[in-house]
Amino acid sequence: MADEHQSHEGKERVYEWVARGEADTVRLAESLAKLAVPGTVIALDGDLGAGKTRFSQAFAAGLGVPGIVNSPTFTIIKEYDGGRLPLYHMDVYRLSMEEADELGLDEYFEGEGVSLVEWASLIVPLLPAERLHLHIGHLGPESRRFTCEPLGERYEDWCAQLGMTEKTRRETER
Ligand SMILES: Nc1ncnc2c1ncn2[C@@H]1O[C@H](COP(=O)(O)OP(=O)(O)OP(=O)(O)O)[C@@H](O)[C@H]1O
Ligand SMILES: [Mg+2]
Repeated sequence: MADEHQSHEGKERVYEWVARGEADTVRLAESLAKLAVPGTVIALDGDLGAGKTRFSQAFAAGLGVPGIVNSPTFTIIKEYDGGRLPLYHMDVYRLSMEEADELGLDEYFEGEGVSLVEWASLIVPLLPAERLHLHIGHLGPESRRFTCEPLGERYEDWCAQLGMTEKTRRETER
């Protein structure tokens, strides 16, 4: 019983997905886009050039968003319609917590669309408790390790469904 309680809080389970090249990142993003429902929130973290924007572009394509999805670093939030669900693409790199708070991000997170948040770890207190938090790390020029932290049962199911490798938290902290 105690175990069940712990995993429920999303504190224990972490999954890993290794992309051997950009095409794998695209595949992961497209698969997640197919699973997305209104109110889905995907938090993206990782160094400069890790692939947060590349992932977002492929996710947008997976939703059927027409046109080009660019990095919203300077616009902070861009909304895209025309896909299966609205897409709210955010990049909070240049925001302070205070500014982010004033933006009223909740309206997006609780909206009818899907929120993708680049540099989400900078505003953790403002993120919804239930989210899929992806941490992208460089393994090589074209390869990336996605450490996937599903917070909430729905996201946990997605990770399992996509055949991600389950890891213990300790393994991913190495
Ligand atoms: N497996 C991969 N997954 C994603 N991008 C890859 C991969 N391999 C190579 N790339 C390249 O890495 C770059 C990722 O850039 P991207 O703008 O998506 O990074 P970012 O994490 O959004 O950076 P920033 O923090 O500057 O916004 C792109 O040029 C992309 O072509
Ligand atoms: Mg980016």
